[in-house]
Amino acid sequence: METVAVTAADKAARYRELLPQVAALVDGEPDLVANLANAVAALRECVPAASWIGVYLMKAGELVLGPFQGKVACVRIAVGRGVCGTAVAENRTVVVPNVDEFPGHIACDAGSRSEIVVPIRRRGEVVAVLDLDSYELAAFDEIDAQGLAPIAELLGTLAW
Ligand code: SME
Repeated sequence: METVAVTAADKAARYRELLPQVAALVDGEPDLVANLANAVAALRECVPAASWIGVYLMKAGELVLGPFQGKVACVRIAVGRGVCGTAVAENRTVVVPNVDEFPGHIACDAGSRSEIVVPIRRRGEVVAVLDLDSYELAAFDEIDAQGLAPIAELLGTLAW
């Protein structure tokens, strides 16, 4: 119990520290791809449990792979499909403790066990999603959802 509480506090603190780092990385730089690439790289350092971290951008009504860290991934995901498409269709963060129990999960990497997808909104409209996968079961929880929310909000202010 003690260990879990410390880990949770540590995780929340890591996200709090990450936010100003990402803000500094994108400050004054107008290029969207460069900013997303650096944000994802910074996230990679912050979330050691993640096996894959990346962004899918809404383009012509579907999600298209953007900057990421990890193994090669599927390029296009329809809205409503998989965890990413569900996050867009339902305009909400989706936490999946066990991907085998999520109907329609798209397995880009057969080793993935859990996932979190956070919508990135610009003026209320979902313009992209932030996707994190893990080889561990239940790697992501409400602390990750709360920690990633302000980062997604910050990324929503970029030049979409
Ligand atoms: N698992 C995702 C697909 C993207 S990969 O995880 C990188 C999904 O079900 O939408």
